[in-house]
Amino acid sequence: MATDEPTGIPEPPALGSSALPAGTYEGRTVFVTGGGTGLGRAIASEFARLGANLVIASRKPEHLEQATEAMTELGAPHLTVTCDIREPEQIAAAFDAATERFALPDVLVNNAAANFPVPAEDMSPNAWRTVVDITLNGTYFCAREFGRRHLAAGTPGSIINVGASYAWTGGPGFAHSAAAKAGVKNMVETLAVEWGPYGIQVNGLVPGLFPHEDMTADIQSNLRRTDDKDVCQPALRVGRPRELGWAATFLASPWAQFISGHTLVVDGANWQRRSMTNPAVVTIRDQMGKGPFEP
Ligand code: HXC
Ligand code: NAP
Repeated sequence: MATDEPTGIPEPPALGSSALPAGTYEGRTVFVTGGGTGLGRAIASEFARLGANLVIASRKPEHLEQATEAMTELGAPHLTVTCDIREPEQIAAAFDAATERFALPDVLVNNAAANFPVPAEDMSPNAWRTVVDITLNGTYFCAREFGRRHLAAGTPGSIINVGASYAWTGGPGFAHSAAAKAGVKNMVETLAVEWGPYGIQVNGLVPGLFPHEDMTADIQSNLRRTDDKDVCQPALRVGRPRELGWAATFLASPWAQFISGHTLVVDGANWQRRSMTNPAVVTIRDQMGKGPFEP
């Protein structure tokens, strides 16, 4: 029946349901960077519901604490490890700990990233370096550790790199993160080919807008600059974190083994959005409520 008012893409099934068979990840170990907060925790939770052992790595004790709480609530065998993904030796130590507790992780979810809105002309060299170091270098260092260990052991594995759609479009106000995510997406394509012969599948997973309570103050205040985010999306709603978790568990599952080198966008088509009548351009400085540039 036709309606006057469009209602957008329906809500997903309830939290706790799954498209994959129960026990899909029984006996498997999944390593999630940044898995104590937001989308990383949502992804870790969906693997946990399907029986996985979870290893969650990040820097801050309070985030690791949140991971422990979430995994305990789901009854998932888990290990939390303090690790700054900018430091390859800390990553190696985290993989040693994971292997000792469970086994060499079968799945790596490179979810950790860094970001804050800033006009490009205001950004300090260290601000640029910090975001690129965490988002691009950190992702590669984790993939490298995972790949080398599987090649040495002769075992297959699956890597998922969490990206962002401004890898394709550019990201005004986020020059550092957009450039880093473009590198992350490109890395998916290279590593999938290099490591395919060894049975390692590499994919990208791009969330659209998925607001959550753990978002940093910088990102939250950026979102608050416009009020209702739902009406800005073609789906007429933002993403629900479990929807990203379901996509991750599918990509690393036996039913998606032949999907490799692909980046899956979960955003209700938001990144394809164009309008017939372009709205007037508003500078990033104005969008952020900043005055004129002062060198
Ligand atoms: C300008 C900033 C800044 C800001 C930090 N810097 N915040 N510059 N505007 N808001 C600058 C600092 O001044 C410093 O440069 C440099 O960045 C490094 O800052 P530190 O605080 O020393 O870095 P560090 O402690 O390593 O922390 C990294 C961080 C922090 C990125 C700054 O925010 C963090 O830990 N973030 C992790 C979580 C995160 O970012 N999540 C977002 C993922 S969401 P100087 O020159 O002063 O030394 C995402 C997509 C969301 O990616 C899309 C939604 C629309
Ligand atoms: P978030 O809650 O801020 O999560 C970022 C995580 O990364 C934190 O748990 C943080 O933990 C970890 N981290 C940051 N720097 C680290 C480092 N140097 N070493 C180890 N861990 C580090 O953000 P989110 O929204 O869930 O984002 C998750 C992923 O989705 C990111 O890749 C992001 O770019 C992507 N994304 C999100 C959205 C969205 O709408 N939410 C949109 C597009 C893309 P510690 O602080 O404990 O280290």
